Amino acid sequence: QDLLENELPDTEVIIASNREPYIHNRDGDVISVQRPASGLVSALEPVVRATGGTWVAHGSGSADRETVDANDRVLVPPGKPAYRLRRVWISDEEQDGYYYGLSNEGLWPLCHLAYVRPIFRESDWQAYVAINQRFADAIVREATRPDPVILVQDYHFALLPKMVREQLPKATILTFWHIPWPNAEAFGICPWKEEIIAGLLGSTVLGFHTQAYCNNFFDTVDRFIESRIDREHRSVVHAGHETMVRPYPISIEWPPAALAGQKPVDECRRVVRERYGLPADMRIGIGIERFDYTKGILDRLMAVDELLIRHPEWKGRFTFIQIAAPTRSKLASYVNLQQEAQRITEEINARHGSDGYQPIHLVIRHHEPEDVYELFRAADLCVVSSLHDGMNLVAKEFVAARDDERGVLVLSRFAGASSELSEALIINPYDVHGMATAIDRGLSMSEDEQRERIRLMRNHIRERNVYRWAGQILIDASRIRKRLKVNELH
Ligand code: F6P
Repeated sequence: QDLLENELPDTEVIIASNREPYIHNRDGDVISVQRPASGLVSALEPVVRATGGTWVAHGSGSADRETVDANDRVLVPPGKPAYRLRRVWISDEEQDGYYYGLSNEGLWPLCHLAYVRPIFRESDWQAYVAINQRFADAIVREATRPDPVILVQDYHFALLPKMVREQLPKATILTFWHIPWPNAEAFGICPWKEEIIAGLLGSTVLGFHTQAYCNNFFDTVDRFIESRIDREHRSVVHAGHETMVRPYPISIEWPPAALAGQKPVDECRRVVRERYGLPADMRIGIGIERFDYTKGILDRLMAVDELLIRHPEWKGRFTFIQIAAPTRSKLASYVNLQQEAQRITEEINARHGSDGYQPIHLVIRHHEPEDVYELFRAADLCVVSSLHDGMNLVAKEFVAARDDERGVLVLSRFAGASSELSEALIINPYDVHGMATAIDRGLSMSEDEQRERIRLMRNHIRERNVYRWAGQILIDASRIRKRLKVNELH
């Protein structure tokens, strides 16, 4: 908030993302509020709570329409209003094309090198264009001045920056791409690559998690679109408009809100073991995420299998709890993944389990942040084995949850987070044997070593929290705004 007042005084902030931060659902007579499992939302929400303004997002809950005013707006967070949520409505048919189709069967596998073949349908593309236009129009209607700061989030809205720029040429458009950007060769298979790149280049600043993704983006622009690229100053000029392309590694709020009401670690350990019917001295490994094929969940389950084969001394002494929130369940690739995970879990449990001992607990259900933090605090070790991941905030949340300075993080080198959290046990998720060895090493690690590693990671995340992430983007935006104002005067 201070930064906004100092660097961008008198500024209107509008943010756009597909996923909304608060979902109202009706169950009989009762309306409840759900917070979605989304790295994007957990990172952005504290920032918008601090800046205020308007968040434009898809209204997806069963009671969303009942809870908005005549202009489709609702004040959030419930009970503690800090900003406006403006809901945009999308029909089921449009959702099939824009969200399930182009966004999640096309761009998601295109950008993640996870070996699921992207699917591109003309009808999905048409829906994607139409919904991007609908969000652009909603943003323009929400804007009360000609030069708002607009934060555009993610791959659902590649066309939005250009569409908004056409209607609000003086807007400062800050776009953040939350997933990886692949190399030019891989991106080149997209039939609408030119339109997507040109859409993004309507932004004032375009952010990625890492410099490597920025470099891939420059290469892609260079290959497919008429432009002037200045790699030294990290900018692209296209159609007379300049876009800054910069890395901004996203993070979490510090201290995390979900940590506030937590019981002491010993109590969390006891409660969770009791809930799963585990003896008090059972060692626990934990995996928590959306049930997505990019997260390497199957590979992780196979690593537990390998661990129990190679180190049978852990049988009866180590249990892995895998929490997986159902996601995008209309798509075959996601349904197949769930079935496969259930099958593998049953197999492993049959192979190594015995009376009273179940090696893997697979829980397919959404958990609210407070429950996730309780599980993190109860665990001895957390495994993040993404096959490819823009950043992965679960890794940072696990570290943040451990104010007792215990616990081991096993982290994929293909998650953006691995370039920051080098004190984790870094693994290659495609190497099941290596992953099993890391789990064994984590379970055997001395308390002193755990403390040393986790303390360094906590210091890093405390320092580079999400406010700093947002602050850096806003500082860059403010510099550009000042420069443009000076140029206007001359
Ligand atoms: O951060 C990547 C991301 O795809 C976000 O864009 C999204 O909010 C989150 O993961 C969860 O996905 P979905 O919104 O499709 O449930």
